[in-house]
Amino acid sequence: MIYSKEMSKKNGRLIAVDLFCGCGGLTVGLKQAGFEVVGAIDNDPLALLTYHENHPTVKIYSDDIRNIETDEFAKMLQLDKGELDLLAGCPPCQGFSTMRTLNGSLEIDDDRNDLLLDFLRFVEGLEPRAVMLENVPGLARDERFTHFCARMKHIGYSGEHRILDAADYMVPQRRRRLIYMAGRGFKIPFADAIGKRITVRETIAHLPKAGNSGDPLHDMKEKRTDRIAKIIAMIPPDGGSRAYLPDEYKLKCHKKCDGFKDVYGRMRWDDVAPTLTGGCFNPSKGRFLHPEENRAITMREAALLQGFPPNYKFPVATNKSAIALMIGNALPPPFIKAHAVSINQALHCNKQF
Ligand SMILES: C[S@@+](CC[C@H](N)C(=O)[O-])C[C@H]1O[C@@H](n2cnc3c(N)ncnc32)[C@H](O)[C@@H]1O
Repeated sequence: MIYSKEMSKKNGRLIAVDLFCGCGGLTVGLKQAGFEVVGAIDNDPLALLTYHENHPTVKIYSDDIRNIETDEFAKMLQLDKGELDLLAGCPPCQGFSTMRTLNGSLEIDDDRNDLLLDFLRFVEGLEPRAVMLENVPGLARDERFTHFCARMKHIGYSGEHRILDAADYMVPQRRRRLIYMAGRGFKIPFADAIGKRITVRETIAHLPKAGNSGDPLHDMKEKRTDRIAKIIAMIPPDGGSRAYLPDEYKLKCHKKCDGFKDVYGRMRWDDVAPTLTGGCFNPSKGRFLHPEENRAITMREAALLQGFPPNYKFPVATNKSAIALMIGNALPPPFIKAHAVSINQALHCNKQF
């Protein structure tokens, strides 16, 4: 083997950077796939606090990415151009999401969409050997993504994107997401779907009773009015929904419009969970009731259904909505791991020493 400066400095390690790192779901998946994450950027103090608690060795740059020069960032990490193995990230995707209305789907424009171009600026500035981008499927229809793909090709990357369901990659949750992967001069194959799906039962049925379990994330209190508590108790177990409520218990807003059928629904034990959102602590935001207990899922259950390890730390001194938002925004680690393993293998097959 030919000896190189790059090899000696990295000492055989594959190093990665996580842009828009949030509370760290993507970083967990990268680490599980054998990468050492050396740097991360985000501008949300609470997400960064959570990230640092779980990944204390990663150098964090806490600022709006639009204010960060790539040279400055590379200097902080002591990285030369071309030396980084993987640049990965998920620019905020609310902007590319579609909002459901009674009349169908409506595209929302949002200036956060331009952050994709900052991701591109980091690719151009750092020249990583591989790139991984995750986002909502709606990104594929956006002209900024078309520009992104064309520019990546122009600067020498061989890239491809697919829309995949995280449930096919050991995540106990239906979650369709776009994954783009590119190698500098080489292709990266997508990981094959895994035949068996992991169910809600396999993921949370073994947990001790919420409220007094000793895990502060599982024991966070939930407050409901008597009427809402009664409504929850009337929803049949294991997949029941508000359609079964007697008329006098149907909420006024639900009588007027028949959309959003999942709200006040229970998860099914032997199925995957529905897509978790930042509202996953609130049954009025989706099918977020426990399959049989008269409560919404706890934040520990949400974290497990998102694929986080059982001991992942969240700031319980804050509140459920802040934690749910971080969990709902996170990338499911097993989904990321599956694709990052492919990147790891492709990087080893395409050593450029
Ligand atoms: C989809 S979430 C990322 C989730 C994260 N990758 C994970 O797996 O947990 C997007 C993140 O982008 C961050 N963000 C939004 N605008 C930003 C900006 N202008 N500069 C830096 N970070 C930003 C948000 O704070 C949020 O944590």
